[in-house]
Amino acid sequence: MPSPLPPDATVFFDGQFCKATDARFALEERGVLFADGVYEVVRYDAGRPFAMQPHVDRLANSLKGIDLRGVDAQQFATLSDELMDRNGLNDAKVYWQVTRGDAGPRDFLIPQPPEAETSPNLVLIAYPATPVDRAGDPISGAGHVVEDCRWTKCWIKSLMLLPASLAKTAAKQHGALEAIFERQKPGLEESHITEGGSTNVFIVRDGELHTHPNDGWVLPGITRDVLLDAAQQDLGLTVREQTFTRAEMLAADEVFVCSTTQLNPLTSIDGTPIGDGQSHPLTTKLHHAYLDRIFRG
Ligand code: PDD
Repeated sequence: MPSPLPPDATVFFDGQFCKATDARFALEERGVLFADGVYEVVRYDAGRPFAMQPHVDRLANSLKGIDLRGVDAQQFATLSDELMDRNGLNDAKVYWQVTRGDAGPRDFLIPQPPEAETSPNLVLIAYPATPVDRAGDPISGAGHVVEDCRWTKCWIKSLMLLPASLAKTAAKQHGALEAIFERQKPGLEESHITEGGSTNVFIVRDGELHTHPNDGWVLPGITRDVLLDAAQQDLGLTVREQTFTRAEMLAADEVFVCSTTQLNPLTSIDGTPIGDGQSHPLTTKLHHAYLDRIFRG
């Protein structure tokens, strides 16, 4: 598949800005061998980052979660701005990644103390994006439910994305635009919907908004937080951070998924229409409240 990066794109790799085509990972980089690393995705619209500090803070938490020391997450804010300038971009999704680095021969054990024998590799890539159509409606599509077979630390934005890749691929094969994870949590009789393959999931029921609580089983999505706040402050809605089942989701008036890169109403899930199978008035309002927040700065 062709890269969405222009051929002369500049990235940040191994301590410096360089051409994307010159960036090469070491053979025994722990990020490659063990998916030993974490990441973030930040959006820039009209030259400005959105929710930069929450992304920096979540990166710091993820680093702590895998005991990857010696990286100051704050530097990603300035590196991102410089990367955008160097690439002459105004609208982009900027990808941040920290891997633990090359620790020599393949060994499961993380060098101890963890900062001793690796030098973490910081990577930043700016993927150009189409400027947002502020007046446009969100793109809707279908959802496909899959088993949430990921680990229990979903609050860490880990590079171990194979379960999400498999789930999203299965969704695509079912004609859906997002996979919806359903988890049988230990000690509970019923399964619950946790989140999407790379999104948080919301349902609208009787004018109220419901989404899974930030209890570790989902990524604490930054868009999720912004939408919860916008729903209450800007639209006067009641929000409930509480779990729901697949049956409750299918019976909801509206369902949508959201992330830094997308907000999509789901008009059907595995063939069951959501609401009237077409309209999603509250999600559309929320979408515009979200865009207002992005552009009001
Ligand atoms: N994904 N849940 C999961 C599992 C995610 O991977 C993401 C983001 C979200 C939404 O988080 P936020 O609103 O902070 O982007 C929820 C990113 C965009 C990705 O992996 O590309």
